[in-house]
Amino acid sequence: MATNSVEIESAEDSKVHVFSSSTELLEKLHQKWNSVEKPPYPAMYSSVYGGIILDPAMMVIPIDDHMVHRGHGVFDTAIILDGYLYELDAHIDRILVSASRAKISSPFPKSTLRTILIQLTSASNCKKGTLRYWLSAGPGDFLLSPSGCPTSAFYAVVIDEEFSQCKQGVKVITSTIPMKVPLFATSKNVNYLPNVLSKLEAEEKGAFASIWVDDEGYVAEGPNVNVAFVTHDNELILPFFEKILSGCTAKRLLELAPKLVENGRLKSVKTGNITVEEAKRAAEMMYVGSTLPVLPIIEWDETPIGNGKVGELTMALSDLVWEDMVAGPETHRLKVPYV
Ligand SMILES: Cc1ncc(COP(=O)(O)O)c(C=O)c1O
Repeated sequence: MATNSVEIESAEDSKVHVFSSSTELLEKLHQKWNSVEKPPYPAMYSSVYGGIILDPAMMVIPIDDHMVHRGHGVFDTAIILDGYLYELDAHIDRILVSASRAKISSPFPKSTLRTILIQLTSASNCKKGTLRYWLSAGPGDFLLSPSGCPTSAFYAVVIDEEFSQCKQGVKVITSTIPMKVPLFATSKNVNYLPNVLSKLEAEEKGAFASIWVDDEGYVAEGPNVNVAFVTHDNELILPFFEKILSGCTAKRLLELAPKLVENGRLKSVKTGNITVEEAKRAAEMMYVGSTLPVLPIIEWDETPIGNGKVGELTMALSDLVWEDMVAGPETHRLKVPYV
């Protein structure tokens, strides 16, 4: 008897609730969001809705979107700092390159994507955070071919988050997770499973993140960052971008770093092939990416890089990019027209 009653209870416990109306569902979602002190996503845009959404309960994308169930989507991220969008045009250009490699035609021309992103940031009233956006083959059906998805989709969200110039050194490991082949590594598509596993592997081994090495033994990139080295001859070198993501921050660093050549602190600035052996002998090593913007690396596979301390040139390069982010020319920083 006792066993039966337990069985009956658990059957009732596992009964799935059917929402009788969208009002009931929304009430439940609002309860959840109302218990949060400050919603982390102040605004979202969806081309499926055709507008900007401020209610986090409604910040959703359709389950039959090809990006959701087939990974047929691309994305990009730009940062918002002191009310400015940094390198927005470079990030929009990159999502359009990614989209063309994924055979996704944007529902809007570049100028419209840009104005949507600016208006979204303005509506969010967020002065510091990230702006993430996606181009997708769009909703339609659950088949492999996107031919049943009549219109591609554009989604974007503003994330209210804190970040500051990184100054502490981190440890990294060589990733054992296979890196993506160039067609996929050079575009920012939503298939980030290798990147996630690579980051997890590093965390499991007590490191911050990992480094991918390509099939020819050359240093490639980190799971969501580029990597750069300063040699003992004071040369700044970044791996070629042919097989990896062309980082907007890394490219801006390459434009800014010659200032350190002019003042004699660096001898040269270049991209090139770097073997793991050469890289591990570098004087300084760093990650380069949007929110860092430069993160010193002091140890790789338990071997110190240089003297095992945060490098002076790494910090000089970090200062250059950080200053560009907070006070650089308006060709690289767009003032958001908040209302
Ligand atoms: C794989 C990968 N490499 C490098 C980067 C750095 O690019 P960015 O400087 O544009 O943030 C990112 C982040 O977007 C990335 O996902």
